[in-house]
Amino acid sequence: MSEKHSQKWKSAESEPLPVPILVTGIDEIREYTKYADSVFGVDESDPTLERWTPEYIATHTDTVGLFVAYGSDKEIKGGGLVTILSKAEALEKLFNQSYLTKEKIAIFEYQVVREEDRRKGLARELTEKRLQWAREHGATLALSEIETVNPISAHAKTREGFVFIGIQSDEYSDAPLLVAVKPLVEAEVFGESIKNTTPIYEHVVMSVKEDSHSELDALFREGWIGIDAQVGESEEEIVLTLRRAKLS
Ligand SMILES: CC(C)(COP(=O)(O)OP(=O)(O)OC[C@H]1O[C@@H](n2cnc3c(N)ncnc32)[C@H](O)[C@@H]1OP(=O)(O)O)[C@@H](O)C(=O)NCCC(=O)NCCS
Repeated sequence: MSEKHSQKWKSAESEPLPVPILVTGIDEIREYTKYADSVFGVDESDPTLERWTPEYIATHTDTVGLFVAYGSDKEIKGGGLVTILSKAEALEKLFNQSYLTKEKIAIFEYQVVREEDRRKGLARELTEKRLQWAREHGATLALSEIETVNPISAHAKTREGFVFIGIQSDEYSDAPLLVAVKPLVEAEVFGESIKNTTPIYEHVVMSVKEDSHSELDALFREGWIGIDAQVGESEEEIVLTLRRAKLS
């Protein structure tokens, strides 16, 4: 490698991780949604997708925050959305977890990092900024839905302190969605009181495959939560570790 090339390589490698910023200008929002829609294959003309349109994001700044990270050349490196759900939206999302409906829920979605910038911690930074924004806007619970065929995203979520509490389908996704939550305020952890006792946990590890969705659903309903997700043998396989406090 020539010196010129090696210097170029070095400077690209050592560029610090960009800090995601809250984006409110319609042109910047449009630039991100155009990029993210192309990654997710979103049909922009679908009227049911209003919540993710630039116009909606730009005019609902009290309930919606779009964070984008830019490189030194102003190119988008990644971004993600956080939205405070209305009570009706929250109910729809959490139909199997009605005990959470008293929470003020912020949903984390529409996140993408450019391929060449992955595995550097940018998704974690994007989540950190959005968690801070959600707390400042009074949210008590962060929610995210991960397709059962997206182990990288599932792994990233557990590394960011989310736990999986359910599995459900929605009209926009081909695969079922794992429901991930992270409390934003000090609280009892899903019925496991941790005030004075240290619970003893039992664990199970399972591969999330099409024929295991109903078994997984049953485990969630019995109070198991998913605390770790790893990429399995194929790039679409989630290997999930679930935990439950042992009943004494
Ligand atoms: C999911 C996504 C946003 C992660 O972005 P990222 O910036 O690479 O994530 P991070 O660098 O913060 O990494 C988070 C964790 O995932 C791991 N990870 C990231 N890419 C991985 C890969 N290809 N294989 C295995 N693990 C991977 C990281 O090592 C890290 O885990 P660790 O802390 O145990 O090392 C990115 O892969 C992406 O844009 N994917 C396509 C769009 C998408 O699926 N969005 C999510 C929709 S819900």
